Amino acid sequence: MPHTHVAGSIHADAMASRPTWLVRPDDLNWLNPALWPAGVERAGDGAMTLVGRPLTELTEQFGSPAYFVDEAEFRARARAFAQAFDDWDVYYAGKAFLCRGVARWIDQEGLGLDVCSGNELMVALRAGFPPHRIGFHGNNKSLAELRLGLEAGVGHVIVDSLDEIERIEALAQELDVKAKVLVRVTTGVEAHTHEYIATAHEDQKFGFSILGGHALMALVRCQTSPWIDLAGVHSHIGSQIFETDAFQVAAQRTMRVMAQFRDATGTNLAELNLGGGFGIAYTADDTPPTPAGLKDSLSLIVERARADYDLGQLRLAIEPGRAICGPAMVAVYTVGTVKVVELDGGAQRVYVAVDGGMSDNIRPALYAAEYSALLANRASSAPPALCRVVGKHCEGGDILVRDVFLPADIAPGDLIAVPAAGAYARSMASNYNYLARPPVVAVDAERAYPLLRRETLDDLLALDLG
Ligand SMILES: Cc1ncc(COP(=O)(O)O)c(C=O)c1O
Repeated sequence: MPHTHVAGSIHADAMASRPTWLVRPDDLNWLNPALWPAGVERAGDGAMTLVGRPLTELTEQFGSPAYFVDEAEFRARARAFAQAFDDWDVYYAGKAFLCRGVARWIDQEGLGLDVCSGNELMVALRAGFPPHRIGFHGNNKSLAELRLGLEAGVGHVIVDSLDEIERIEALAQELDVKAKVLVRVTTGVEAHTHEYIATAHEDQKFGFSILGGHALMALVRCQTSPWIDLAGVHSHIGSQIFETDAFQVAAQRTMRVMAQFRDATGTNLAELNLGGGFGIAYTADDTPPTPAGLKDSLSLIVERARADYDLGQLRLAIEPGRAICGPAMVAVYTVGTVKVVELDGGAQRVYVAVDGGMSDNIRPALYAAEYSALLANRASSAPPALCRVVGKHCEGGDILVRDVFLPADIAPGDLIAVPAAGAYARSMASNYNYLARPPVVAVDAERAYPLLRRETLDDLLALDLG
């Protein structure tokens, strides 16, 4: 008896509401180049492939759910930033996604690395990443983490509090080194993004506020310390940002503090790091800036502010994370159940439940982040059905793709691929409901190999002392 697909029964006019940008696609199998890595294609039989390997084969080999990273795409994105910002320093923000393999790629592509915990630093050092090209972030670095950083000889410690300055001084004296630091300032800029990740407005935990002279005081404090080599200033205004106007205000305000410092001390600060936060496309509605476009507008912003405050030449830096790893990774899930849910007013929504969820990608639940998805194991000529791709967690908010058109004949056993899954997903993964975290598999022309293997029950139980 043929399996009648419940999704097929949905009536077009009874569809639930959807975001205005989500248009009913003409071709449900189309791979929008703005969303998918260059290595993703559809084979003759309609199945999606990554660098020539069917996702069906890759999931047979590495299991499902799994994250697959197009190595060439990742490297090309790192290189695009390094080339566009050739006279700046570019630090890859490891918090977006880090492992030893990725640290090596970043090293080979000539970028620096921004880490924000002792363990991220250890991953980098274990990968043989040159410590002098590492920036060490964190709003509450412990004494042990700072010791690790100073003993390893990290390029910069980005200081975030007076407590930290005292810790660094005590450690530097004990180790008889001079700690090279940037002072993180908070510019009060409200970035155009989801407020939970807008980090520069005042009521947040990071940095020294420019208001009330806190930033200036911290700069003077560092400059007068015999154990600290004050290199400059750092500012990060948020994440998933598309317009550079927020950077304009942040740069202006940061440079005003640098000018005030010069006027107060007679010393020109040498370095300015404008952080990361460059947006990527998660849906067809997103139009992210290119590295070259970013460089043009940021250079203009910096030059204008430098002229306004008559500042000397500066060594400039940025810290892209999402814009390098995000678009290079695809998450693949297996459909477990398909259910049409009746909504008020007679509308219906198709719930497609898969074998992953908020434990491998918390962003939709945490930030109401939007994603896209496509049927990956085959092409389909079935009509589009408005679906919600959800996880398998015991949590109503366990949503992966809030609104997406998928073929009405989608069924258990089908594969779904989610593009732009590389940033702040696997790196924020958890073991909620004791789900094991999925692998991250790198794919290039020669081979497919795990950067991170799949976690096992034994791995989880290793912590459980019974
Ligand atoms: C200090 C700092 N730099 C860089 C980044 C990277 O941001 P993104 O991945 O959006 O480029 C972050 C992200 O939160 C950050 O906090």
